[in-house]
Amino acid sequence: MSVADTLAEDMIAGGDPSWLLRETGYELLRESTFETRFALSNGFLGVRGGLASHLGACRAVPPRIYVAGLFDTPTPDSVVPELVPAPDWTQVRILLPDGPLMRCPDRSSRALTLDMRRGALFMEARQTCNAPLDVCLRSLRLVSLHARAIGMQVIELRIESGVSDLTFEAAFGPTDFELAPERAELDLKAWRTWRSGRSLAIAAAASLEVDGIERQPVMRGDLTWNWSWTAQPGQIVTFRRIIAVTRHHATDVHAGARARKELAAARTLGWRGILARHEAAWAERWRCSDIRVTGDDAAQAALRFAIYHLNGAANPEDPHVSVAARALTGDDYRGHVFWDTEIFLVPFYALTWPEAARTLLMYRFRTLDAARAKAAQMGCRGALYAWESADSGSEVTPAQTVGPDRKILDVLCGSQEQHISADVAYAVWQYWQATEDEAFLQEAGAEIILETARFWTWRAALEADGRRHIRTVIGPDEYHEGVDDNAFTNGMARWTIARGLDVAALVQARWPETWARLARSLDLGEPELAHWREAAEAIATGFDPATGLFEQFAGFSALETVDLNAYAGRSVPMDVVLGRERTQRAQVIKQADVVALLALLPEAFPGASGGTNFDHYEPRCGHGSSLSRAMHGLAAARLGRAEAALSYFRRSAAIDLADTHVAIGGGIHVAALGGVWMIAILGFAGLSLRADGLAFDPCLPADWQSLDFRIRWRGRDLAVAIDGTTRVLRVALDRGAPMTVFAGGAAFVIAMDRPLTVEGVGG
Ligand code: BGC
Repeated sequence: MSVADTLAEDMIAGGDPSWLLRETGYELLRESTFETRFALSNGFLGVRGGLASHLGACRAVPPRIYVAGLFDTPTPDSVVPELVPAPDWTQVRILLPDGPLMRCPDRSSRALTLDMRRGALFMEARQTCNAPLDVCLRSLRLVSLHARAIGMQVIELRIESGVSDLTFEAAFGPTDFELAPERAELDLKAWRTWRSGRSLAIAAAASLEVDGIERQPVMRGDLTWNWSWTAQPGQIVTFRRIIAVTRHHATDVHAGARARKELAAARTLGWRGILARHEAAWAERWRCSDIRVTGDDAAQAALRFAIYHLNGAANPEDPHVSVAARALTGDDYRGHVFWDTEIFLVPFYALTWPEAARTLLMYRFRTLDAARAKAAQMGCRGALYAWESADSGSEVTPAQTVGPDRKILDVLCGSQEQHISADVAYAVWQYWQATEDEAFLQEAGAEIILETARFWTWRAALEADGRRHIRTVIGPDEYHEGVDDNAFTNGMARWTIARGLDVAALVQARWPETWARLARSLDLGEPELAHWREAAEAIATGFDPATGLFEQFAGFSALETVDLNAYAGRSVPMDVVLGRERTQRAQVIKQADVVALLALLPEAFPGASGGTNFDHYEPRCGHGSSLSRAMHGLAAARLGRAEAALSYFRRSAAIDLADTHVAIGGGIHVAALGGVWMIAILGFAGLSLRADGLAFDPCLPADWQSLDFRIRWRGRDLAVAIDGTTRVLRVALDRGAPMTVFAGGAAFVIAMDRPLTVEGVGG
């Protein structure tokens, strides 16, 4: 039995199904969906799960390989950079004398298995008809989580019957016109982007064995190999390819040297060594981030799928990039970074993988100058981050798009969707609360918060009514443009200014030298801070104490009301159903807006007004964004409405797992996956970060018998177990100094030898 065989059999026989994602059969029209869901990523390299090349010529979409940060503008006159697809290093052709071997596979035999525990994709297919050979094909593919430059592919052919000449060709797929060739040698190719001056190098090694004996290629070109032999029944053919990819920020004549070095190190390990280290890296990620649910297998599967993609999306080693709205799994949104990262992903990373969270926030620090420039363009001081960001941090939101009715529409988000500047500050503060990473706060975090607080103070202009108003914005509900006093934007702006004051006080007290440096470089002194204090108090909130409602924006409640229940069976978003103009004139919301404020800042909702606002806005929301349900689920869980939250949890998970969203072919909806994690941990477990400890307020759905997970908090490792049946919470400290845990209305100090058991929680 060959090694590849062992792998596949091992996976199928010993595999716990809760770690496996499987699809059998082959449907051309659904292939792009599989390619998204089965994508592999290590935060630097992304490979969609497309394996159609093994099935002859059929291919729904071109293969897609991504290298994080490899941006270029598609044409000389374009100003919007896009992630450039890299050459397809997975391409092979297996040829009989009269054409491709797998041109007529048994489609029902095609099985894709994503082993999420090991971060590896397996494929099996069999050709039995209309060919001289009966062949069973298996493949394994991975991008290494241990050495992110490395990708590996193993393909095994078992010749069941027949005799024929066979050619195995391994090459690199075409790069279209997007990359300019720079260098081509037998083991290395380098390219540069046409306009952005980035360079890419790929070094590769490949081998083919027949029955364990290596064959020399009959032809060798630049990163191209051809083997030919006469296939006989019983033969086992094993092809292996290892690649090393590097990206350089400037055109670099030595671009290939690092790729060669990475490849040499990987080859020293051998393919088994590469696999073993990759598996160990995944095991460590799962050790820190796995969640176990009993009583609800679908929820367990959804959480594993979400955590798999979240762990694959980030790269703690590269502060030049952040996680895009579709991570490295699809073309939609061109590799651009949105608030999705800070609001929906950073909570997961901060509590399970702080190194990754820190790097994502360092990307925002690196792009702070671009944010300052954007604020300055509109006459403000401070920092206004780009709504869509690529590598430089400049605004890259396209100015126009084609609407559902095929008309060209102006896109105003790039100039008006400004809450991003508060979202980034929110994430910095969450990270600080979760880690107390003093070096980060002093080097980067404080400056981000101070500059965004300063921006909001300028942006919220004092008017004749004595209030400060933030006019002409777009909130998370993008159906309404150019609105005044959006409750989410204003609430988050107020909060950011208040945190700016907290950070200023903290840095002054703890690190006077750092404060002196910041005060000097930012030209920030006490008079300005006094001004911030006044501004935070004066920003209009839109809260009406009589009704307990926040008005989503000035004038929202006077708009036409539409009964969304009447459109329950629709298959398109509400703005398509009603048309853009009517939607703008109606109380129809694209996604959680006041509800998002409730999910992020519950303390901003006095008394019982959280529930009041949820009940008011939930029926007005059309969930036209994949982010929306996650926020509703989190808010519902925090309100103690576990079953409603579970329904949102399921529907968020279904976007990528059950094809409920129109655009899954364009990549995974990573924010929705982060949202699934948030509903489970921040919602059902009721975890919240406090300045003086961690608080739990569990509220499990009836079917969830138990919820177990681990988190990292300020250098400590904690194991949390909630028993939904006995309503017992257990928190054990596995590493780190004693700390305070709040649960069931009391505070407890836990230590490594003193775990906590609290009864009567989780009702
Ligand atoms: C949503 C935004 C989101 C973006 C990327 C849009 O449809 O409205 O909130 O940031 O998609 O996911």
